[in-house]
Amino acid sequence: MFRRGDTSVRGMWHQTATFYEIPIHAFFDSNDDGVGDIAGVAAKLDYLEWLGVDCLWLLPFYPSPMVDGGYDVSDLTGVRADFGTLGDVKELVDEIHARGMRVMADIIVNHTSDQHPWFQAARRPGSPTRDWYVWSDTVDRYEEARIIFIDTQHSNWEWDEVAGAYYWHRFYAEQPDLNFDNPAVREAVKDVVRFWLDVGFDGLRMDAIPYLFEREGTICENLPETHGFLKEIRAMIDAEYEDRIMLAEANQPPVDVVAYLGNGDECHMAYHFPVMPPLYMALKRGHVEDIVKALEATPAIPENCQWGVFLRNHDELTLEMVTEQDRQFMWDHYAPDPAMKKNIGIRRRLMPLLDNDRGRFKLLHGVLFSLPGSPFLYYGDEIGMGDNYRLNDRDGVRTPMQWEAGPGAGFSRSDPARFHLPIIDDPDYHPGRVNVADQRADETSLLHWVRNLLAIRRLHPVFGTGRFELIDLGNPEILSYRRWDTEEDVMVLANFADRTSHVELSNPVADIVGGTVHRGEVVLAAHEFRWLRSAPPSD
Ligand code: NOJ
Repeated sequence: MFRRGDTSVRGMWHQTATFYEIPIHAFFDSNDDGVGDIAGVAAKLDYLEWLGVDCLWLLPFYPSPMVDGGYDVSDLTGVRADFGTLGDVKELVDEIHARGMRVMADIIVNHTSDQHPWFQAARRPGSPTRDWYVWSDTVDRYEEARIIFIDTQHSNWEWDEVAGAYYWHRFYAEQPDLNFDNPAVREAVKDVVRFWLDVGFDGLRMDAIPYLFEREGTICENLPETHGFLKEIRAMIDAEYEDRIMLAEANQPPVDVVAYLGNGDECHMAYHFPVMPPLYMALKRGHVEDIVKALEATPAIPENCQWGVFLRNHDELTLEMVTEQDRQFMWDHYAPDPAMKKNIGIRRRLMPLLDNDRGRFKLLHGVLFSLPGSPFLYYGDEIGMGDNYRLNDRDGVRTPMQWEAGPGAGFSRSDPARFHLPIIDDPDYHPGRVNVADQRADETSLLHWVRNLLAIRRLHPVFGTGRFELIDLGNPEILSYRRWDTEEDVMVLANFADRTSHVELSNPVADIVGGTVHRGEVVLAAHEFRWLRSAPPSD
């Protein structure tokens, strides 16, 4: 297993790691109050170690009025009381490290909750800290900035009675944006970063970073000032800490996303938002042109950086980065019920999106685990958990983890009526059908399949750090690419069509998974993928 400081692995740790995203409230309730907690994550580390993930990403665990799932923070260096204490967080971090794994936290500094004492102080008449936030007497400033939560917000300005002025917010009105033009804010933010790195976190997911600064006459996204400040944070981290990373959450077109990696001197990682929707589009279209286009449009990144690739996460499946036509296509095919739509996206989980089809699930993972980047898994997707899109906002993809069959799903011993969110009761996905315990006991389960593929991926760091090149087979139904470095040369074939395809190859190849040798041609059943290496000319 990958261990901290293991130098036998090529590249830096974030370049070969597999990440696993955990909403603490939904993972495991250790104290029977119906809410998952930090000690609950610690109680499930055996499972995560068994699964073979390298780095956990803990969703926000800070005090919050929970208007935006905890991304509205009222104390940036505190811990939500029903999750536990700072001591619990420290213990968890130490325990994760003792097991050779790593852990990331979310840093949310574009905005705070309106309940944060900073905002409460800033809004008071005559407040000396008024300019910690962005105020205006009119709503006609920064008019070119788009509204992000378009389904619920009508303006980026909100009137505040106490202040007698409008304040700026890119997300919910309960999330006023901090004013990064104020040096005191920038220093306070650096201290927040230091605080969590001192606790021992290995990485920080920088939430909503494109929006830190505002400038008149611009769309107020990706501004040079924002990059300048991120570089400052990076320089501070490099000077004061070892082996820590920054991950950019920037839902932007490829050229704008790579800017967050700088020249290897800004963030270490960035999510690859643009390649995600095309993976789903290809399944419905039966051809891979959209994936190829997205990969071709992806610029090279600095040597010490890495993409974060993912299929789903705690938000809606975002369609911000696709054309209007493609967005409509995605809605038509993946959101037949209007309640499945959320904002400019789709609030469904992976397995229901794939109609509970194991072949499609495997195909997408075969691609996810071999594309350039480090894969991010979303809790519960490894067992094919379902969703409940009738719940508020994005809660339908944040329901309790299904550890066992039974009414409480092994998530909590308290009365399910007290649960923070209800257990999935869909006949295809309720805990009697989908749970960790049953799948652990069954070697043919989805869970074992994911675990095995992760274990195989770990043996081939070329998937993390190798070079990448698309291969044109002249067959639009098959995605094909090469991953190679000085030690390995792997060819990936992935059939996105509903029918069998034959791929002719002049040299013999062997499956990395299973070892079957193919001479002359490789036959790919519908939705089959293969990771291939060259094989000797004859046995
Ligand atoms: C991105 C987070 O993933 C999302 O959940 C949140 O609503 C916004 N940032 C605002 O913080």
